[in-house]
Amino acid sequence: MATSIREQPAATEAARCLIVDDDPLVRRTLGRVLQSQGMAVAEAASGEEALAAFEAGPVPLVITDLYMPGMDGVTLLREVLERHPDTAVLIITGVAEVKTAVECLQLGAMDYLSKPVLVEEVRTRVHNALEKRRLTLENRWLQRTYQERLEERLRELSRRNQEMFLGQVQMAVRMLEAKDVYTRGHSQRVSIYATRTAVQLGITGVLLDQIRLGGELHDIGKIGTRDAILNKPGPLTADEFEEVKRHVVEGEEILEPLRKEHPAVLQIVRWHHEHLDGKGFPDHLTGERIPLVARIAAVADAFDAMTTSRAYRPPREVSTAMKELDRCAGSQFDPDVVGAFHRAFPDSTRLPLNQ
Ligand SMILES: [Fe+2]
Ligand SMILES: [Fe+2]
Repeated sequence: MATSIREQPAATEAARCLIVDDDPLVRRTLGRVLQSQGMAVAEAASGEEALAAFEAGPVPLVITDLYMPGMDGVTLLREVLERHPDTAVLIITGVAEVKTAVECLQLGAMDYLSKPVLVEEVRTRVHNALEKRRLTLENRWLQRTYQERLEERLRELSRRNQEMFLGQVQMAVRMLEAKDVYTRGHSQRVSIYATRTAVQLGITGVLLDQIRLGGELHDIGKIGTRDAILNKPGPLTADEFEEVKRHVVEGEEILEPLRKEHPAVLQIVRWHHEHLDGKGFPDHLTGERIPLVARIAAVADAFDAMTTSRAYRPPREVSTAMKELDRCAGSQFDPDVVGAFHRAFPDSTRLPLNQ
């Protein structure tokens, strides 16, 4: 019985073949046939030796006997296919072992050779097995490549769609503000106030980008609010106020396509009117249940609203607005955010930003 793997010179790595049989004569006979087909042949006298042979590199083809001392051919087949599923395995069977041969095929063996092995049959079946394996690998590679290209294309399309959608909603905000001289530039300024405040709180990267965008889009829902209410030169009735309040929920609905890529934008849109004490809207969230990005947007939004003129009142002084933020810190606003806002804009003479 052979105790070691005898490696024949390789013709090509792809045609490396491992013959597993405890009978040296069978190994030698098969080895000669395969070598005459230009293959590199390694021999193993047992299943254990065969598995060890894989450590030297990939083995595209294994031809194994069924009955061997130690690990039998069926076990070897299972082990090989589990560890190296791309290996083609041929089983050598006696005429009385047809049932086992069929079981092996069901387990994933590529084919079987009947004893006594005939040279022509070996050549044909080995050739067919290697060809089938090659086609399977090629097919899988093609499928994977196709799949990757398809996914890449879909990602690209989705990115372009998002960009187009973003362009449209940004345009919508500009149109919305163009209708109302009092709120012109509001979204841009809220975006800048919020972004600089966020920087003071250590926010960077993707989240900072979303805060910038969220500031720009926070009032997008006002597209659905009637002009007569938006431009009303006086206090709103309770019903009118209810209609204005809907802009946060409607804005979130409009921006639904952004939810996956820009979740913080939707948080800002829905919750920028929430108060720390739960007296805001639409969900009466309290404290840290209000996402930080929305707490930041709330301060930025309120400051800009106070320091710009409205149809029904002149703008407040910057110092007054700053004091108002301080006064409401802890009840309406997050004190940390108010602190960060002060740090972001230490020179009040430069405020408010361009209107
Ligand atoms: Fe708003
Ligand atoms: Fe606003």
